[in-house]
Amino acid sequence: MNDLEVPVRYVITGAGSGIGRAVATLAARAGGDDDAGQPRLALLDRDATAVEAVAAELRETGAECLPLVVDLGDHASAGKAVEEAVSVFGGLDVLVSNAGISAAGPLEDLDLESFQQTFDVNTRATFLLARAAFPALRESRGSIVATASISATHPTPPLGMYSASKAALKMMIQQMAVEWGRYGVRANCVSPGPTDTGLTRKSFGDAEDAEARENRRYREAVSPMRKIARAEDIAQAVLFLAGPHAGHITGVDLPVDGGLSLTVMPLTGGTPGYRLDQIAQEAVS
Ligand SMILES: NC(=O)c1ccc[n+]([C@@H]2O[C@H](COP(=O)([O-])OP(=O)(O)OC[C@H]3O[C@@H](n4cnc5c(N)ncnc54)[C@H](O)[C@@H]3O)[C@@H](O)[C@H]2O)c1
Repeated sequence: MNDLEVPVRYVITGAGSGIGRAVATLAARAGGDDDAGQPRLALLDRDATAVEAVAAELRETGAECLPLVVDLGDHASAGKAVEEAVSVFGGLDVLVSNAGISAAGPLEDLDLESFQQTFDVNTRATFLLARAAFPALRESRGSIVATASISATHPTPPLGMYSASKAALKMMIQQMAVEWGRYGVRANCVSPGPTDTGLTRKSFGDAEDAEARENRRYREAVSPMRKIARAEDIAQAVLFLAGPHAGHITGVDLPVDGGLSLTVMPLTGGTPGYRLDQIAQEAVS
């Protein structure tokens, strides 16, 4: 792949739902009309039904889809899945390491098992996937995009381990950027703010639930853009970082949060009309 070419061979994790599914959908549509431009997507997820359904839907667009049912918390599986994709596609242009989980609770109540699971899926899997993908990415001068979170930079109670696992992920991606840049391999993160997906349905996506509705109004009110992101908003940023328009960008963490992570000063009390506590109060009362 030269610097101007649109990537076509992808491994996308968490492709059965939310952001991963949106990335796969956009990648499927981004290909050219000829055989060389046909998108070839390895869709990894632990949810077999969901990932098979996404594969079936995207095949209708002409994309070649390879659904792989894999638990990324299992250290032996991640690398094997990448090797299978590379073997079927004859190489790889982009690794999108997106699958993630969260464990909620005050730090003092969180146990070792959930610590382990959170770091295994959110952090270790990206290392194992990227390590397996590296030879093929070096060959294609391809790239890695990981889904971190604004929680990687901003402590997020009650998701203490989640925040820590995403912070470690972000640094690992920057480490890859520095070590692998010489081979033409780029590595970047996107950091979503609140986004409508399966992960956040309970918290603010369920329109039938009064508490979720109030939580949503509050979050919208305190965000500069006054809205929750769609999975497609995040996917557009992933495809940008993966593609030729970001050919000289590596090691960045791109917030896709509608400006939410910039709201510390309004929170401390700014000009009347900009105080977040007042705006939030009006939204939920
Ligand atoms: N939705 C948000 O508000 C938000 C905000 C910041 C960051 N993120 C991050 O975005 C990424 C995607 O999450 P989403 O919001 O689309 O959630 P989602 O729950 O809709 O999708 C996540 C997908 O990952 C899969 N998955 C989870 N654990 C897995 C495992 N061990 N092995 C294989 N597959 C696994 C799930 O089956 C699911 O299909 C995650 O890394 C998440 O931390 C989401």
